[in-house]
Amino acid sequence: MKIFIDTADVDEIREAAKLGVLDGVTTNPSLVAKTGRKMREVLEDICELVPGPVSAEVLSLELDGMLREARELAAIAPNIVIKLPLTADGIRATKHLTDDGVRTNVTLCFSPLQALIAAKAGATYISPFVGRLDDVGHDGMDLIAQLVEIYGNYDFDTQILVASVRTPTHVLEAVRLGADVATLPYAVIGRLLQHPLTDIGIERFLADAKKIPTS
Ligand code: E4P
Repeated sequence: MKIFIDTADVDEIREAAKLGVLDGVTTNPSLVAKTGRKMREVLEDICELVPGPVSAEVLSLELDGMLREARELAAIAPNIVIKLPLTADGIRATKHLTDDGVRTNVTLCFSPLQALIAAKAGATYISPFVGRLDDVGHDGMDLIAQLVEIYGNYDFDTQILVASVRTPTHVLEAVRLGADVATLPYAVIGRLLQHPLTDIGIERFLADAKKIPTS
């Protein structure tokens, strides 16, 4: 499974990239707003740091505006992926961009049938929001299981990008289900590495190492 970082904070991306396991980045308007910086500047910096796919979201809600923004965003760097909302216009834009060879990430997916339409439009990625489903009393990971089944039944090329991830458990379930990508907040990436027994083990080894005769 590929690991993307879900942030527009360049410092977080730089830190996470140091691990050497980062495959890409997803941003959204809320994440860019948090930085207090201009969208274009943030995206330019991110694309310089990470060679993998960097999702940049359009703000327009109608087809022509989406396609105009998509062209502007795609001109920033070759690794930009155009993120579009799962609406009728978003699907039409996805189809246009796919036909033009532009990679897309269809976002705000909350149902398997939405995901079916996105795949038929040729989306490169579909972003089901697991955390936001959990927030309203559904099981977000159930949606991932359904997408894995449906896309597998028909050999769709669209990659399942698990989004709105809040916990390491989401990541564990995503990887067990065979999702293609999970996009993780910086804090969750850190938590994947941690285990108290690792810390205790290191302490013990270092304490015992002091007992090893040096001469
Ligand atoms: C990423 O592509 C999504 O925009 C993001 O994961 C949404 O996360 P949130 O539900 O925590 O805002």
